[in-house]
Amino acid sequence: MSTVNLGLIGTGPRGRVYVNAVKQLNEKTPDRARYLGVCDLAAEKLAAFCERHELVVDQVADSDALAGRDDIDGMVICTPDFTHHRLATAAFEQGKHVMVEKPIAIHPDGARAVCEAALKANKVLMSGFVLRYDPMSVKLREMIQGGAIGKLLGGIVHEAVGFHHGASYFRRWHRLREFSGDLLLHKGCHTLDLFNWVTGKLPRRVSAFGGTEVFLPRDDAAMVCHECKVEDCIHREELPEEEPEERSASSGVGSLPIDACVYNVDKDSTDTVFLVGEFEDRVRLSYSMTVTSQLDERRFNFIGTEGEIIANMSRHAYGMHIRRLPEEEPEEIPIEMPEGGGHVLSDVQLMDDFLGRIESGADPEEDIQFAYHSGSVAFAAVQSIESGSTVDIPQL
Ligand SMILES: NC(=O)c1ccc[n+]([C@@H]2O[C@H](COP(=O)([O-])OP(=O)(O)OC[C@H]3O[C@@H](n4cnc5c(N)ncnc54)[C@H](O)[C@@H]3O)[C@@H](O)[C@H]2O)c1
Repeated sequence: MSTVNLGLIGTGPRGRVYVNAVKQLNEKTPDRARYLGVCDLAAEKLAAFCERHELVVDQVADSDALAGRDDIDGMVICTPDFTHHRLATAAFEQGKHVMVEKPIAIHPDGARAVCEAALKANKVLMSGFVLRYDPMSVKLREMIQGGAIGKLLGGIVHEAVGFHHGASYFRRWHRLREFSGDLLLHKGCHTLDLFNWVTGKLPRRVSAFGGTEVFLPRDDAAMVCHECKVEDCIHREELPEEEPEERSASSGVGSLPIDACVYNVDKDSTDTVFLVGEFEDRVRLSYSMTVTSQLDERRFNFIGTEGEIIANMSRHAYGMHIRRLPEEEPEEIPIEMPEGGGHVLSDVQLMDDFLGRIESGADPEEDIQFAYHSGSVAFAAVQSIESGSTVDIPQL
């Protein structure tokens, strides 16, 4: 099989992940893939990235020129969310396969444009939905679609974002919809995609309630922690002596001091959402996202006509069990958490899958509905919160 030639756009933490993933896959299958070019708007960062990863490649600032190279098969796009739609459609227009980080776009028109471009180019579209590869997701999908709890009635899903983690988004570009679409999309799309993926059902309409409920402006707080007199603030951040070399997802846009006040910064993202969604085949979802939990957790309760599956996909409480009717005792489903938590294995599996689909000439239509709908509940929820109405989800 010939080597898959790749171009990479974006040299932040996710760019690093996909460079390392290719290295690991090449250890198993020599010369399976290689990067021919890497692009970043920040020239110094790009040069340092290539040196650190020993990448002897074309270093470019113009992503279109990279995507236009005839010898490149696939583009890996790891830039901030608001750039995905343009970069992905441009790559499809150049006839490339595309792996674009999640979400595929920050608005519904962008998601449609990306999917239509993939279909028109007849090329593979994948996005960074690593949770699909978690052993728990694989088991849930097998059990639910295999009828383990009868006909699926719906699911209750809680995205409990840990309070430190939640606050961190409000010091970065994620707090502004022009960059992230909303935290519900940026953060929630992983879990919402997983619900689609595990159940095999696609969303039809959504009603949502929410807003910025936690990080509201405070008169008693300053704009930065080192000038603030609120000593007992749980989000007080000490300034480090030196700016960290690779500040996660900083990338310049909407960037703030490390100790910016999460209450007083400008923002228009929600931090609290409760929604109800209706899916095909009368499957329903009740989903919530909050940012006030001690620890990050994804809690799932799938309810069918013949029982329930209860699952917790978090590092500290990883596990799932089934309660079948009419038995009373819950049955543990043995599932081993991947070493190091979710990402370590899944990132490599995602790249393996992307390369595999290019190598096998997979039909791009196979997964396109799931790619399109990966953000559609979040898009509709944001619209519903603003309009106060139930929102029908446009279909592809
Ligand atoms: N799949 C996952 O689990 C997961 C986890 C974290 C982040 N992400 C996603 O990955 C993406 C990247 O995250 P990150 O933390 O690496 O971001 P980052 O902001 O740290 O790095 C992005 C890089 O892209 C560059 N860039 C921005 N616009 C560009 C453009 N138009 N052309 C070329 N370069 C450009 C920036 O200079 C920066 O170096 C985001 O969309 C984020 O949502 C996914």
